[in-house]
Amino acid sequence: MKNNKVFKFTGLILSMALLFSACGSQIETSVSPQASVSVSQSESESLSDVTSVSEDDQKEQDEALLIEAKKIYQSADHSVQERIDALLSVMTLEEKAYQCVQGEQANVTVDDVKRTGIGSVLSGGGSAPSTGNNPENWQERVNELKAAALETRLEIPLLYGIDAVHGNNNIYGATVFPHNIGLGAANDPELMEEIAKVVAREVRAVGVQYSFAPCLANPQNERWGRTYEGFSEKASDVAKLAGPFVAALQGYVTDDEYMQGDAIIACAKHFIGEGYTEDGINQGDVKMTPAEFDKLLSMGILDPYRACIDSNVLTLMPSYNSIDGLKCHENRHLLTEVLKEQLGFKGMVISDYNAIQQCKGTYNDQVANCFNAGVDMFMEAQNWDVCAKTIVNLVKEGKITEERLNDAVSRILRVKFMSNMFDEEINSAHENELLSEFGSAENREVARRAVRESLVLLKNDKIKGKTTLERMKDATNIIVCGSGAFDLGRQCGGWTIFWEGKAGNITQGTPVIQGIYDEVKDHAKVSHNVNGKVDVSGDLIVTVIGENPYSETGGDRLPSGLKPISADVKLLDAIEESIAENGNDPLKVLIVLAGRPIDITDYVDRYDAVVMAFLPGTEGEGIADVLFGDYDFTGTLPMTWIKDQEKVNDKFSLPESEILFPYGFGLNKAGKKLTRE
Ligand code: GLC
Repeated sequence: MKNNKVFKFTGLILSMALLFSACGSQIETSVSPQASVSVSQSESESLSDVTSVSEDDQKEQDEALLIEAKKIYQSADHSVQERIDALLSVMTLEEKAYQCVQGEQANVTVDDVKRTGIGSVLSGGGSAPSTGNNPENWQERVNELKAAALETRLEIPLLYGIDAVHGNNNIYGATVFPHNIGLGAANDPELMEEIAKVVAREVRAVGVQYSFAPCLANPQNERWGRTYEGFSEKASDVAKLAGPFVAALQGYVTDDEYMQGDAIIACAKHFIGEGYTEDGINQGDVKMTPAEFDKLLSMGILDPYRACIDSNVLTLMPSYNSIDGLKCHENRHLLTEVLKEQLGFKGMVISDYNAIQQCKGTYNDQVANCFNAGVDMFMEAQNWDVCAKTIVNLVKEGKITEERLNDAVSRILRVKFMSNMFDEEINSAHENELLSEFGSAENREVARRAVRESLVLLKNDKIKGKTTLERMKDATNIIVCGSGAFDLGRQCGGWTIFWEGKAGNITQGTPVIQGIYDEVKDHAKVSHNVNGKVDVSGDLIVTVIGENPYSETGGDRLPSGLKPISADVKLLDAIEESIAENGNDPLKVLIVLAGRPIDITDYVDRYDAVVMAFLPGTEGEGIADVLFGDYDFTGTLPMTWIKDQEKVNDKFSLPESEILFPYGFGLNKAGKKLTRE
């Protein structure tokens, strides 16, 4: 007899005993849980009838328990802990395991959700609904999956996650903000709160409740393809900006206060050390012993996480990188001892996209080791069903304890309760109001302000007593050069519509040149050159150069790769030749669209003014507001800019003579040096 048969049989005898004892007739039972009991054929038949009756009883009992539990966990009148305990008490092992997985929406059907009660679904970078990329289709797709979750036995709401890392950037027509590196230049905590509120509204507008943001990296080496996702090379800057951002994004949720208003769940990522890998290799190794890394932790790179935990960040994502060869996802010291015990993180740790599969051993080992290290939810995009089943088996084999499983599920449920998911109305009237404001002029004004504040004036030569920026306002014949001047894709960079972004007019917004034209059209002519022989007969040349979009490992570069795209390099030379031939002497301003410091050393001397615009997003007119309008520059560099990129691996040990522009550098229109607080 299999174990469970014995237990069922034993249970039957015991429940009969209870039944009889309730009826006054005594039946002696001395059956221990370990004993196996043999019965004759006739007895077993009569017992099997009774057994099936007891299964019906069991089913009835379960249903009764569920009804009672729902009265608690579905009511906000009870504390979060009471709701968690009540729900946990009626969950089966399978239901718990499926709460711990997140699948990619392209790999999850409505029926999958109904069948499994999967805890979460994500749209990875660029993963739009099959019906097409517009806000309405997104809303329909998200809400059909959320509705399916409410048809399961427990009716646990589905958590939908997306990378809204600079606006709800996957979605056509969204307001797209400057990437974090530009916001690091703006260095304005109040602005971060305003941005967060717009992002949250445009994410909620399509039914999504969760964004995998902010990234808390403090990049040390611009060879790293994710440099632009970091706010600053200094962790203290990151803490200062990310804390307010998370607080506002999450509607100032606290331990006692549920999330308020049009807020969404944040995700502090990627924990930890991603900006310190050797050669800036994405997902690479930090060449430090655990003791050396602990020292680094104590020197401040934990501060951004402390700031987000102080803002009650509800989720956190480990990093792909390893430290001394051990992947963060399976590093119990970091995920449990440091994060959960030392820092007191109460939220949910969600693994990065299929990241556990980079860990050591078989898939069983990867799931077990990462679960026991402290991962609570598994972003197993395609493998989510197998992952849940693996968790069930590992619990049955004792390789994951019930206690650890319940801890993980409790953390997940806490996030769902604290964010009002159990009280959420799907496709509500309010959600559709937000949808009608998706990408609105009002939302874009916040992004336009962010663009203005993110610009850094690196050079502003004074000629005949006036600076270049002061003289530009008098220009009447402006020639804008460079394909980047009318390319929203390059303006936005990676994580825009497509995972890696894409050059071209990929969404709605204002290209740089359009902003310039709108600002000066009543007093100046504006023309545009892309490449080849250029008309330089104007009194002002504005040249826009930079990188093409990229993300993650796709953005990793050799030192020699840290430069403008080749078409821009050719254009810069063509402009010089044309000016020499033409013999005129126009004012020349260089605008750089890039996610990091790149090699512009040779061009700085040729230009009267140089502006670092980073990756400004859709509201390119913010650049014209400052260049030709009444706004002044306030931005300062969040990263050290060196002269010779070949030395980038050792940038922090270089002498001052090797620094092109130091961390914190920035000028205003009058040519005055700004101070970075
Ligand atoms: C990616 C990134 C992470 C993102 C996740 C989901 O690989 O590392 O930042 O949140 O997958 O798209």
